[in-house]
Amino acid sequence: MLPVVLRTERLVLDLPVETDTELVAHYCADPLFLKYLTTPWPYTTEHARAFLTEYIPVAWDSGDELTWAIRRADGAPLLGVIGLRRDHEIGFWLGAEHRGEALMAEAATAVSEWALGGAVAGAETLLWRANEGNLASAHVARAAGFRRITPRIATVPGRDGRTLAAWHAERRAEVEPDAYASWEPILGIVA
Ligand SMILES: CC(C)(COP(=O)(O)OP(=O)(O)OC[C@H]1O[C@@H](n2cnc3c(N)ncnc32)[C@H](O)[C@@H]1OP(=O)(O)O)[C@@H](O)C(=O)NCCC(=O)NCCS
Repeated sequence: MLPVVLRTERLVLDLPVETDTELVAHYCADPLFLKYLTTPWPYTTEHARAFLTEYIPVAWDSGDELTWAIRRADGAPLLGVIGLRRDHEIGFWLGAEHRGEALMAEAATAVSEWALGGAVAGAETLLWRANEGNLASAHVARAAGFRRITPRIATVPGRDGRTLAAWHAERRAEVEPDAYASWEPILGIVA
């Protein structure tokens, strides 16, 4: 697939490029990534460059993973990244200095509506998974219209081949009426 640009009220989602290398390397050195993601650790500039110049373009081309840079405007610095894998699982991160403005909820809503609106063939349901305890990610999924589900085996891949206990959720084109309430057991009643 050719890279697609998505626009929201505050954001432009476009192709991450080599000039984003230093920022990606900086953001991915966040200890929260060691805890909640499987990005390399310690994360180097070379990891960032390979991600941007090798992995992302090839994965767009094959459709294995569609990865967008999150920016405030065309040509503006990268704030974070959001991706959608071939198996329709969504994943995301923001640089620590850009959290707290619900930017990821906006980006995840845009990617979900785009994918479920017919742009990704066969995508009727998107999947979100996060390590148990990743409350910020759960808030994003709830805000983006995902409904929490409890599969019999609820796991997510961890580091070094480990399997970790996880929260799961799904999103369909039309947000399901019980989606928001489904988060109550982990996020409580108040938003
Ligand atoms: C997940 C992530 C992108 C969220 O960033 P963000 O969109 O800026 O998040 P915000 O700060 O706007 O917070 C979103 C919600 O989470 C809540 N929240 C944020 N941090 C929290 C924390 N540590 N504990 C509990 N709630 C938290 C906020 O109150 C907000 O809730 P609301 O919108 O329902 O009021 C960011 O935390 C991140 O990059 N984390 C590291 C990578 C990661 O874990 N990615 C997801 C892997 S599944």
